[in-house]
Amino acid sequence: MTLSFEILEKDIAGRIGKLSGQGKTVKTPTLLPVINPHLNLITPKEMQEMGVEAVITNAYIFSRSEEYRERALSDGLAKTLDFDGVIMTDSGSFQLSVYGEVEITNAQTIAFQQAIKSDIIVPLDIPTHPDSPREQVEQELSVTMDRIMEAKEIADHEHHTLAGPVQGGLFPDLREETGRKLSEAGFRFCPIGAVVPLMEAYRYAELVKVVMAAKRGLSPAVCVHLFGAGHPSMFALAVAMGCDLFDSAAYALYAKDGRYMTTHGSYHLNELSYLPCPCPVCVGHTAKELNESPDRERLLAMHNLRVSLAEINRVRQAIRDGVLWELVDERCRSHPALLRGYRALLGYNEELTALDRETKRRFFYRGDESCKRTEVLRYHQMVGRLTAGERTLISFSRHIRKKQTEGFDSVFYFKPPFGPFPAELTETFPIGQSEIPDFDEEMIRTGCIGIARLMETNPDSHFTIRCRPVWKDLISQILPTVEVQDEGS
Ligand code: GUN
Ligand code: ZN
Repeated sequence: MTLSFEILEKDIAGRIGKLSGQGKTVKTPTLLPVINPHLNLITPKEMQEMGVEAVITNAYIFSRSEEYRERALSDGLAKTLDFDGVIMTDSGSFQLSVYGEVEITNAQTIAFQQAIKSDIIVPLDIPTHPDSPREQVEQELSVTMDRIMEAKEIADHEHHTLAGPVQGGLFPDLREETGRKLSEAGFRFCPIGAVVPLMEAYRYAELVKVVMAAKRGLSPAVCVHLFGAGHPSMFALAVAMGCDLFDSAAYALYAKDGRYMTTHGSYHLNELSYLPCPCPVCVGHTAKELNESPDRERLLAMHNLRVSLAEINRVRQAIRDGVLWELVDERCRSHPALLRGYRALLGYNEELTALDRETKRRFFYRGDESCKRTEVLRYHQMVGRLTAGERTLISFSRHIRKKQTEGFDSVFYFKPPFGPFPAELTETFPIGQSEIPDFDEEMIRTGCIGIARLMETNPDSHFTIRCRPVWKDLISQILPTVEVQDEGS
């Protein structure tokens, strides 16, 4: 089966899409739970009932398993796992990164993954540790690229989708170049690899750097999988960058350690007196009962998976409504390391603005970070296309009488962090759909960028700003050539 990927809706660089082929469809963004046939805390069939449309399992484990190898080879994965959704298999690469070597070649794992009838197959890429020096990253990347191209030669593209993993360590140029090469070679399903150590160490700013670099090289038509991302607190951030798929064993690994996932972090069950979740497990147990249950691991895995799937749906809805920035902002305030990642992402606002959609359902100002959002940048670009009269008034107050505009050829109002707007734009996005609290310094500073832009593109106009006395000094400091008057006068 060769999967096709169709993008249906967008917000920031995130998208709602449809991955489909041979009667199977997967709505994206989505989470592929990792299935370990030996553990099977939750069966793939139960997962399907919970809304899971695709799973990932490790082909290397199957190839080494006395119990499952022959069954998978004779019956195929769908029957062995009793799952009729999309099944992706990973090669031995993860074992490679943990144990240093695996007893399988690239050609062997490709042949095996095909023989067990995996839908999405992965070559034996090398997940180079992010702290490796450039020389090693380059050398291992070169081996990885050879293996990917070898896999491309030998794979049966009619029945399987071959993934092209993007490696390249912490070097943005290598990640970007790799993304470009894979896109040019025709890969339409690309996982971004070797990011688990970054996520484990809460290095979200570096994660953003790596993913944004890979995305810059990849064609927008590529379905992007973020290897090993499984904590619901970072789904919104990753989707905002344009990641479409996640896979994770976290729901099960956390459960093993008695850890309870929420969208804003995890707790050990010992720390919880109350369960802040409406899923059947949490409604049916107190924290103490859950912690002491002989079935704790399975129940906790159920809860963790449900929380993760619910967050995926929340992210999808946010894309649809055009409020993904609000969700990213909310999630990334739950941990300073995530906030660092969020701020790093805002540093890419120029390229994100080019990808972002034009209009959205709303814009809620949530503090200084909101000033860097794509909608603000886009507005500043648009302001440069507006015409100002010879004598132009920019009024901070929306409630002005006709008399107060006498002597002006054009009147603009002011909505920070966007900037000046003519009355005709009162109802249009973002002016009409944005909610801001009382003016603060940062939003005024940002709004002044909009004013400066209007002044720049209307060099023959004379500008007068009317504002409350409290803002006069700030305005004069930012825009020294403008005439500033008190609102009262
Ligand atoms: N699982 C987590 N990271 C990786 C990676 O970089 N490559 C592969 N194949 N699997 C992974
Ligand atoms: Zn729950």
